[in-house]
Formats: sequence, structure tokens, C-alpha cells
Amino acid sequence: MSRASLSVVSDAVTVRVPAKVNLYLAVGPLRDDGYHDLMTVFQALSLYDEVRVSPATELRVTTTGEGAAEVPADDTNLAARAVTEVAQRVGRAPRVAIDVTKRIPVAGGMAGGSADAAGALVGVVNLWGLDLDRDQQSEIAAGLGSDVPFALHGGTALGTGRGEQLMPILARGEFHWVLALSKTGLSTPAVYRELDRLRHTRSETDIEIDRPDALMAALTSGDPRVVAPLLRNDLQAAALSLQPALRRTLRAGVDAGALNGIVSGSGPTCVFLCADESAAVNVAAELSGAGVARAVRTASGPVPGARVIEE
Ligand code: C5P
Repeated sequence: MSRASLSVVSDAVTVRVPAKVNLYLAVGPLRDDGYHDLMTVFQALSLYDEVRVSPATELRVTTTGEGAAEVPADDTNLAARAVTEVAQRVGRAPRVAIDVTKRIPVAGGMAGGSADAAGALVGVVNLWGLDLDRDQQSEIAAGLGSDVPFALHGGTALGTGRGEQLMPILARGEFHWVLALSKTGLSTPAVYRELDRLRHTRSETDIEIDRPDALMAALTSGDPRVVAPLLRNDLQAAALSLQPALRRTLRAGVDAGALNGIVSGSGPTCVFLCADESAAVNVAAELSGAGVARAVRTASGPVPGARVIEE
């Protein structure tokens, strides 16, 4: 048999996975299982981690790049858990090396860990040539974390439940974002706990999870000026309470010419929606000079979810 005909059995598979931003995040009361019901609008952005999976004698994970030192290398690593979960389902030993190249900030509210889990999931399914359809992959993803199904699917989507139930949203055009990365990360559970603490005076039944109808209509227009005033994040007050300096970052982005700025998910990354690509480049330059962020990036969305790329 020629080498070419064996090419279905890969030596390594590399998957590119996007970061996410929540354009809208309405958080309901704390549930008995420790989660909160959400109504959220996700958008996948052109800031990617790369996850390479290859055969090995045992499961191991290495991480390089942005914030790599803070990513655990043991079996609590979400990418490793993704491979272990798939291996258990198909009755194989998880003999896979996972090499993650990070660009998505760690503990930044942009679902970097979830992206790596989605990347490892798609990677091992392709490496082993498994017959797992999209629904089965989404179900495994939801078991790994609330944001993992979105990292698989990408685009712009409405998330309900704890964020894992997805419905695609029609979003016209391309949106241009500036991201201000913080010096220190925030733990997602800690931010949700802080929200519960800030809300403790309100009775649980007062907390409404409003549907993002106005935002969804605005997204079909493709006009960032219509979308910008409708950005909302219920976790923002909690993130600002834990990192008060983020107020200055948010102000600096708007002063620099962004249409609006919010904390991304549980933070501390601040994201700014801009009128177009050149406005985003200008805002990024001004923010870099203002000294209010560890690093500043530009990105656009929506982009597709986890995809195998050529080596
Ligand atoms: O699902 P995931 O493991 O990413 O969630 C991390 C933590 O974030 C949860 O343990 C919980 O404290 C909090 N969370 C929440 N409600 C959600 C999603 C996450 O309270 N809908």
C-alpha cells in the first residue's frame, strides 16, 4: 500500500480554536447545583489557541505562550480531561500528547480553558478517526464546561441553561474589537460568588433573566453603532468589585474612541467594540499608551469554532 493511502491515520492533528466574548450576559439566581441560569450572546473572535494532539506512550499536556505558567499540567487540565472523556467513551487508553499554544489570556473571561478543551476534543476525534457526530461532541463538551460547546461551534450564538445550550444567531457583517488584557486573572467561580454577595439583599425571585431581543435584532443590522449601546454583562459589577482598576481601563477605551466597552464574561479582560478596523487600530494604540492594560490586542468576529488546520 502506498503512503498516501495510509494518510487517514494521522501522526498529529492541529486544531485552531477561537476566544469568545459575551455581548450580553444576563445571570439568574444561584441554582441548587452551584450554577446560575444564563441568557447570553456569545461571539467567537479571531484570537486563537492551537491544540496539537499526537500519539504518545501516555497522556501528557504541555502549554506554551500567553500565560502558560498558570495552566495546570496535571489531570485537572481541561484539554487532558477532554481526551480522557473521549477515550473512556470509546474504550481506548488515552495515549495522547497534547501541545497547547496559547494566545487567549488565561483566567481572562474569554473561555481560553474551554477553547483548549474543545480543541483537544476535536483533535482526538480526528486523530483516532472516531465516528462521533456534532451532537455527541457537543454533549461531551457540555460535560467539560459551560463554555466548551460554544468553542466547538463558534460564530454568534444565544446560550441558555448554564450557557451550554446553543442556538445560532444571524449576525451580519464583521465586528471589530479591541481587547485590554489585565495583569492578573480572575477566577470564574469567585466572580459568580461576588455577584451573589452583591445581590444578597435582593430576594432571589426579583432577579429576572431578560431576553436579549433588542441586541439580537441589532446584530442582524450589522451596524456596530446600533449594537454598541446594547452590550450588557451582569458579571461586570462583580468583576469591578474584585478589580476596581478595571473602571479606568473601561473609561480609557471609550475615551480613545471605542463605541462601548464591557468586561468580557467573568473578566478581567475588557473588550471594546469599534466602528471599523481602522478605529480599532487607533483605539488599541491609544490604550497601549495609556498604561491601563498588560497587553492590548485587536480581533474581529464572528469566526468559526474549533477547526482542524493543516500542519
Ligand atoms: O462550567 P464551568 O466549569 O466553566 O464553570 C466554572 C464555574 O463558574 C462553576 O463552577 C460556577 O461556579 C460558575 N458558573 C456559574 N453559572 C454558570 C456557569 C459557571 O455559576 N452558568
